Amino acid sequence: MKSILITGASGFVGGAVVEYLLRQYQGKDINLLLLVRAETPLAGLARIKNNLEKFGLTAEQLSSLSETNILVGDLSEPDGFTQDSRLDNITHVINCAAIASFGNNPALWRVNVDGSLAFAKRMAKVTGLQRFIHVGTAMASMPDKDSVFYEDMPDNEHNEDLVQYTASKRAIENLIREHCPTLPFVVARPSIIVGHTQLGCRPSSSIFWVFLMALKLKKFTCQLNDSIDVIPVDYCAMVLVNLCLSATIKHSFYHISCGEERCTPFYAIDEFVAKANNTSAIINDYQQVSYEEMSGSRKQFKDILGPCNDKIILRAIKLYGGFAELNVKFDNQRLLDMGMPRPMPFTTYIDKCVNTTRGLSIPELMMVDFK
Ligand SMILES: NC(=O)c1ccc[n+]([C@@H]2O[C@H](COP(=O)([O-])OP(=O)(O)OC[C@H]3O[C@@H](n4cnc5c(N)ncnc54)[C@H](OP(=O)(O)O)[C@@H]3O)[C@@H](O)[C@H]2O)c1
Repeated sequence: MKSILITGASGFVGGAVVEYLLRQYQGKDINLLLLVRAETPLAGLARIKNNLEKFGLTAEQLSSLSETNILVGDLSEPDGFTQDSRLDNITHVINCAAIASFGNNPALWRVNVDGSLAFAKRMAKVTGLQRFIHVGTAMASMPDKDSVFYEDMPDNEHNEDLVQYTASKRAIENLIREHCPTLPFVVARPSIIVGHTQLGCRPSSSIFWVFLMALKLKKFTCQLNDSIDVIPVDYCAMVLVNLCLSATIKHSFYHISCGEERCTPFYAIDEFVAKANNTSAIINDYQQVSYEEMSGSRKQFKDILGPCNDKIILRAIKLYGGFAELNVKFDNQRLLDMGMPRPMPFTTYIDKCVNTTRGLSIPELMMVDFK
């Protein structure tokens, strides 16, 4: 019997991981324990099920989860859950929980670094633990502009983090390696996760709104020829589960990305969004502008995007524009060598993302990324 502890199951990636396990492994010898913030196990179960409903699971599939699958706990106060004796029976961990926001969340380092390290130290004492998959982020490598980042390259210490979030994600990986040498620790760094190949943005509108915003404004800080390394959340989940449950794996570090071949140019995003909306692409009207020019036209944001706080929109343009301008690709050879399929190109499911966000304003869609 495998006993898998999943953190972050009330979120986008962790929810997709549980979705994958419930669809593919139900009835097999697998027990799930889900760490969730809540007052009681019952309330935690309700939060998890509420999230999983967005992944289209049936009532029957959801009924296999009960309060016994819930570990109530908060990474900002790890002492509250690390004494739970059920942790001693865990054989596998998929650690998805983190504050994944580009905003200035004051708990960022307490959760992503201090609490996560305490959790890893606790799991390092579990004698039957076979694998601890830690979900990092590819952007933590601080890649150079217009580069391909390979899995055997060290993080680019000469560049600066665009946001504290990536700094916290890099710090925790290094601290766990340093303080938990016996932990069967494997880092999986996804590139940029947008939508779900079957459900579009129903599970989460995270990041998709940035593309819609740039297209509505008809201007942004990157060129339309620049590309972005996007993967769907269901692909990310499938890879995480396989890395976790494979009897042996060769490396302790993997990118989960689309690789050079499948990166999506922004002009293709324009084309496929237009197709899904039955409108014309904006390719001939698009302008690449500086952040300062964006700032100069901020009074027009309300007219184009609907009621919004122009300061928040500008901040989003600065943060997400910084990543979009990088035009970086993350090599995924290690997964391909394992026989993993490549992810579906973003353009094959953009229509689903458009259809599941129709009628929602940019300020409504972006809220998920500014927690
Ligand atoms: N989305 C992307 O494009 C992307 C790309 C690369 C890497 N990643 C990584 O993927 C992982 C998951 O991100 P996501 O997109 O799924 O983010 P998300 O939707 O915001 O989910 C984050 C999860 O972490 C949990 N969490 C936050 N603070 C916690 C705390 N103090 N104690 C316990 N749990 C806590 C959240 O629980 P609550 O529901 O209680 O807040 C939620 O379940 C993160 O490690 C992120 O760095 C994401």
